[in-house]
Amino acid sequence: MSDPDELLRIEGIRKTFPGVVALDGVDFDLRRGEVHVLLGENGAGKSTLIKMLSGAYTPDGGRILVGGEEVRIHGAQDSERLGIATIYQEFNLVPDLTVAENIFLGRQPRRFGMIERGRMEADAEVLLKRVGLSVSPRARVRELGIARLQMVEIAKALSLDARVLIMDEPTAVLTSEEVETLFGIVRRLREDGVGIVFITHHLEEIAALGDRVTVIRDGRSVGQVPASTPEDELVRLMVGRSIEQQYPRERADAGPALLTVEGLTRDGVFHDVSFEVRAGEVVGIAGLVGAGRTEVVRAVFGADPYDKGAVKVGGASLKGHDVNAAMAAGIGLIPEDRKGQGLVLDQSVEENLGLVTLRAATRAGLVDRKGQQEAAARIAKQLGVRMAGLGQHVRTLSGGNQQKVVIGKWLLADTRVLILDEPTRGIDVGAKVEIYQLINELTANGAAVLMISSDLPEVLGMSDRVLVMAQGRIAGELSADEATQDSVMALAVSNPTTDKEAARGH
Ligand SMILES: Nc1ncnc2c1ncn2[C@@H]1O[C@H](COP(=O)(O)OP(=O)(O)OP(=O)(O)O)[C@@H](O)[C@H]1O
Ligand SMILES: [Mg+2]
Repeated sequence: MSDPDELLRIEGIRKTFPGVVALDGVDFDLRRGEVHVLLGENGAGKSTLIKMLSGAYTPDGGRILVGGEEVRIHGAQDSERLGIATIYQEFNLVPDLTVAENIFLGRQPRRFGMIERGRMEADAEVLLKRVGLSVSPRARVRELGIARLQMVEIAKALSLDARVLIMDEPTAVLTSEEVETLFGIVRRLREDGVGIVFITHHLEEIAALGDRVTVIRDGRSVGQVPASTPEDELVRLMVGRSIEQQYPRERADAGPALLTVEGLTRDGVFHDVSFEVRAGEVVGIAGLVGAGRTEVVRAVFGADPYDKGAVKVGGASLKGHDVNAAMAAGIGLIPEDRKGQGLVLDQSVEENLGLVTLRAATRAGLVDRKGQQEAAARIAKQLGVRMAGLGQHVRTLSGGNQQKVVIGKWLLADTRVLILDEPTRGIDVGAKVEIYQLINELTANGAAVLMISSDLPEVLGMSDRVLVMAQGRIAGELSADEATQDSVMALAVSNPTTDKEAARGH
């Protein structure tokens, strides 16, 4: 019964962690030359499933067959030997080594016991070309941006001559242009007969790239459908209900300006940035990656310095480069890099949720532990954080659930001005709607929300006004009615310096 085109088969796989049944009977199969999408809510068990194939975890039950034969995968070497390469949700590269060293880590070509650096770098060069990446094999990985890291990971997978390539949310951190490059590479691999397991929360990518979809819900495979299945049907399979409205923005009447930014400039980074966000408003900031959006909001929050300009909250000027002053004035920032800046991984969900409020409460001289706990439990429930309990360490939550904790922490903190940088990256479609509803609640209560997002439908769907940044400047502002995919993109690719001069008749 051995089918030559079947690369991989998983039957009834199970895995339990203390207090959590992560997988409770998953079936899956992968064929030569197909992209098989794994779809499921945050915490459904997708990453756990692929970690059994990469050898990071061993299953408690069920079978894994590779090429028709049952295998046991204990560790990365077993996985590699079976022709399986994995690109994790969290990258696995060593920052201080070069690109070539990372690609051939542990497998450097040797001669008389010495690493053949020249040959290794030449081989790396060929692989980098295949993935369309123009960096030197001698560059340190630390110096690369996240999209290039991803390409290095793929080059590494190619060097292993993998027959099975597993990609866990590879597009979560990429711009649309980079996504296209990635898709090109994946399609070429598929033509070469590689089987690809692809995890994503971006539903539009499924029809664009996939062949089949396996849906996982609460640790079980609940369906296998063609990738051409309509999105609302996919959502229904995934969350067990349909979602009426993807962007439930309820506009409130805008009050006085809460956040005022005047002529903010950081030499060489952003220039003359001015805008305000009024009470009850959601202002979106759109723009291409590298336009300076994150840099501006970090300066507003006091995380980075600026050279000129002013930031005011409720009319009062804020001391620059002072996060404590910003927080005391009621500004909160949910950062883009949540692993690095938003969470204490070896503390519990409850402790992480309390990080901001606790600071405020301690300052006021009283810590209401019970109130803290209740508030944490309420927000965790509202956001649907999938966990064994509030005591679970954040490190062992799924990627999307970690994100929900960072967001929950600031939602609890009673901020007047909340800045969100890519708030729903890695979040499943159902949980996104919950976050949007919490944003509605905040603005209905008079808070001001400033939201950076590279997800254009999200910016358009949730903002009352949209600021578009290009090359470190505000290229234009659009009302909710004026803002469309086209009008935003036109501003995003404009050159605000020369365009302004042209307008002045220079
Ligand atoms: N090492 C661990 N210890 C305890 N629980 C864990 C561990 N790893 C995963 N879990 C739990 O297993 C469940 C499934 O997690 P998994 O990471 O597989 O989800 P996922 O489908 O990849 O979600 P996401 O879309 O958020 O990445 C979650 O409830 C998670 O908290
Ligand atoms: Mg995951």
